Amino acid sequence: MISQNSIAQVFETARVEEVIGDFVQLKKSGSNFKGLSPFSDERSPSFMVSPVKQIWKDFSSGKGGNAVTFLMEHEHFTYPEAIKYLAKKYNIEIEETERTDEEKAQADTRESLYLVSEYANTYFQKILHKTDQGKAIGLSYFKERGFTEETIKKFELGYSLDEWQAFTDDALGKAYQLQYLEQTGLTIVKGEKRFDRFKGRVMFPIHSMSGRILGFGGRILVNDKKAAKYLNSPESEIYHKSKILYGLYHAKQSIAKEDNCYLVEGYTDVIQFHQTGITNVVSSSGTALSPEQIRLINRLTNNITVLFDGDAAGIRASIRGIDLILEQGVNVKICTFPDGEDPDSFSKSNTLEELTDYLDTNAKDFIQFKASLLVKEADNDPIKKAETIREIVNSISKIPDQIKREIYIQECARIMDISENVLFSTLAQINKKDTQGANKSYQPEEKQAFQVVKNEPQSKQKVDVQYELERKIIEILMLYGDRTEQFEDLILQEDENSGELLLEPTMHETRVFEKVYLDLQEDEMQFSNPQFKTLYYSIVDKLNQDEGFSTKNFVNQLDQESASTVTSILMEDERYNLHDWERNQIIPKEKKDSVSQLVSQTILSLRCHLIDKKVAEYKTETLDANADTRTIMEDVKDYVGLKMLLSRKLGKVLG
Ligand code: CTP
Ligand code: MN
Repeated sequence: MISQNSIAQVFETARVEEVIGDFVQLKKSGSNFKGLSPFSDERSPSFMVSPVKQIWKDFSSGKGGNAVTFLMEHEHFTYPEAIKYLAKKYNIEIEETERTDEEKAQADTRESLYLVSEYANTYFQKILHKTDQGKAIGLSYFKERGFTEETIKKFELGYSLDEWQAFTDDALGKAYQLQYLEQTGLTIVKGEKRFDRFKGRVMFPIHSMSGRILGFGGRILVNDKKAAKYLNSPESEIYHKSKILYGLYHAKQSIAKEDNCYLVEGYTDVIQFHQTGITNVVSSSGTALSPEQIRLINRLTNNITVLFDGDAAGIRASIRGIDLILEQGVNVKICTFPDGEDPDSFSKSNTLEELTDYLDTNAKDFIQFKASLLVKEADNDPIKKAETIREIVNSISKIPDQIKREIYIQECARIMDISENVLFSTLAQINKKDTQGANKSYQPEEKQAFQVVKNEPQSKQKVDVQYELERKIIEILMLYGDRTEQFEDLILQEDENSGELLLEPTMHETRVFEKVYLDLQEDEMQFSNPQFKTLYYSIVDKLNQDEGFSTKNFVNQLDQESASTVTSILMEDERYNLHDWERNQIIPKEKKDSVSQLVSQTILSLRCHLIDKKVAEYKTETLDANADTRTIMEDVKDYVGLKMLLSRKLGKVLG
């Protein structure tokens, strides 16, 4: 665990505009910076960074937050990874909180394994580019394959000399310990002898999602029937084959941006795709996708397109593994290549446009693909057909979303020329079996379909006055909550002669948040938006506790969703600025006058709104035949009187 102290230090030092500036071209715009959104393809900038508030907001995707959340969104770092990245950028030493000796030893081992691997990676690249053997054998092989210098550098490809222990000797000479060389598998130890595992191979380093070296793949260059064409690092404390995807480090941003991930067979497919211009591509290095690997992709997108070589037998075998992907609620497409071609060869011999075109036209939905494939095979064979149906429905049963399952049943009924009822009852049978057994995979996620609806942004067409006002109150608290201001308070009094309600003004000094809090409490005003409500109470609480309230620190303590809401509230002005939109008239526009006026106006507006709502409620009540119309009418009259007073007051303030 990173100590709170270090985290605080990182937050204090990191400047959001500097951190983001490493990834996005920012231009000064007033007191802010703006640039093109790194989260979507856009031509006019809607990405804002505020150095004053130390936050950013992307109006095209709705994302926003501080420096750390930016790294988490953009680089897909975990929280600790983001903190460590910033610490490195700003030369801050990270202290870790106490760990047990065992944990320390384990962390030390892992760190040593990383260091050895990083060293090896540098070494293999140096050999490739700087030695005669490297250039003559390794580099010329890559060039023959059609890899450009740029590609070779980007993927940090290397070469391991064709000597028994050249690398091992070099690393030992640099004081790397044999135990770590052995644990990473770079060196094979047999008694007194040491061998370089990757002797005479070209090297493909395998990066973690955040770019550390976890292991290697090495391809042999000579024709040797006894030796494997590709050799990989063995499992170690840092290399877990089932949790790694080759190319993910280089692909993560475009996977998120394209909202799709191409899955290919191996290193060369990934690299050739990149060179041709498609970068959202990863490979699972020869094995079927594991659940962990799917989860890695799932953090970035819900869509996977699996690319197969053009050999039918291979496809038949591989599609079994795909049910596993469906189980995780991922949408799967399949694309096959013409006979004898694989993604590597096809992308090498085609332009980006041709490749993109091919993928777009030939990628088929997995279930449909499977249905057409099997139906062809089962032609005229009733027993085989029955088997096929069960197999397809089995795949469908893995899909967590019920609506999708039903659509697939209909679709497959059509493709296989069979009644939907048969498919539905087969599905019911499979479900029943699954529920009886341990596997109920799709059930816990059943509610997903509803969540989507719930999260849909509120319609912006119709302005929700209450929503806007609640939002404004959060903004006021965030920006000015801490200030002390002069307020003209209105004491509501009843005129003794006329019985009319009057507001008597009195001046007094108070902190803004107290004023807001007390006024709202007086009206028994409840936030209708649950997120604003939570935020409201936590801001008031914070302001109440400490004198030095800072927006930046507050945002840092929020969870990602709340942080995003707060930043969008805080960036509201810039947004209008940005698009040059007319602000709607609900909220007084002149902020410069005084904070005290802004606060009073907002609270008064909210009161007026609540009164309107109350009056509307009474009106519907009077439609009820049993209602005591007289009392209600009197109440309404009181409210209308109050409303008139408030409006007058509001008019004055606005004036
Ligand atoms: N692969 C692997 N292990 C093997 C064979 C292949 O991991 N024993 C992976 C590699 O990552 C490779 C991909 O599958 O990039 C494609 O395999 P293949 O075409 O056989 O490898 P190439 O290096 O392209 O060989 P060739 O030049 O003969 O096509
Ligand atoms: Mn190949």
